[in-house]
Amino acid sequence: MKVAFFDAKSYDKPGFDHYAATAGIEIKYLETKLDEDTVSLAAGFEAVCVFVNDTVNAAVVEKLHALGVKVIALRCAGFNNVDMSACRGKLRVFRVPAYSPHAVAEYAMAMLLTINRRTHKAYIRTRDFNFSLRGMVGFDLYGKTVGVIGTGKIGRPFAEICQGFGMHVLAYDKIPDNGTGLHYVSLPEIFRESDIISLHCPLTPETRHLINADSISLMKKGVTILNTSRGALVNTEDLIAGIKEKQVGAACLDVYEEESDIFYEDRSGHILQDDKLVRLISMPNVLVTSHQAYLTNEALDNIAAITVGNLQKFFAGTPDETTEVIYRQ
Ligand code: NAI
Repeated sequence: MKVAFFDAKSYDKPGFDHYAATAGIEIKYLETKLDEDTVSLAAGFEAVCVFVNDTVNAAVVEKLHALGVKVIALRCAGFNNVDMSACRGKLRVFRVPAYSPHAVAEYAMAMLLTINRRTHKAYIRTRDFNFSLRGMVGFDLYGKTVGVIGTGKIGRPFAEICQGFGMHVLAYDKIPDNGTGLHYVSLPEIFRESDIISLHCPLTPETRHLINADSISLMKKGVTILNTSRGALVNTEDLIAGIKEKQVGAACLDVYEEESDIFYEDRSGHILQDDKLVRLISMPNVLVTSHQAYLTNEALDNIAAITVGNLQKFFAGTPDETTEVIYRQ
């Protein structure tokens, strides 16, 4: 079993090498992302392993199929970057539905604490022996209302973390889970009542640009928006306008609509061409990180174990139904 592993990073390899060795899988690590220009590198492989910013559109799927690739192993939960209708009848697709929901939930809280209490700025100041507190005033999270959109594997622990801080949690989900004990309300109510809004739903046609000029206009003035889910849940131009008008008090973005050609690489020596991202990063009340909410030892180990397991079961003729992505019209 030979697997072409696209967009490989040094931190991916230890876990994958460990599990692949015991499963008898040979992995070729490729630093490049998968897209229409690089897909020919998959020649001679039966499987490709891809991540969140690889492009698996219809053209890439056709080419993979023509090259004899049989399976796509996503080493992530989201599959919005894969054209599933194009895969039908040609390629099977597996993912890692959960590797450490707590990693992402904890990171969302870390971002909220950082932007609110300015610990990132304090760290830089005191390293420069600047002990001034000017501009450092935050607010108590205790007693504030947080709106959690999407109460799945990540949204639920995030809600529990917030409850631990003594916050009031309002929840919205397309399919509310009344077993959670969460207080479900309508989406407009989330927008109107929340001091903080955190996104934990997947990116679908329905959720694309869920945060836009209309929803922002419903929100409390000074709301804090957290996005650790997928960039295109937020209309970036509308968010920037909301921040400039001070309707949005702060934004924490671990994901960004146009991240695929930017994130995960050192671009410090370059002039960034994406003006919207530059504008966001320039704002003192915006925290942008490079899609790293998942990045813990536990998550990396689980990702490697489950992805290798998916490939092993597929090639053994016993594919795992619980991790297969099925195209539904
Ligand atoms: P999940 O599938 O367990 O939960 C998603 C929840 O969203 C479900 O309860 C579902 O009913 C709900 N939902 C679906 N459509 C909705 C809609 N239109 N409106 C409101 N809710 C809706 O997924 P999980 O594991 O909690 O992950 C959530 C998202 O987090 C993923 O889709 C992925 O995009 C993102 N993610 C980000 C990571 C990062 O490193 N920043 C890492 C892992 C996941």
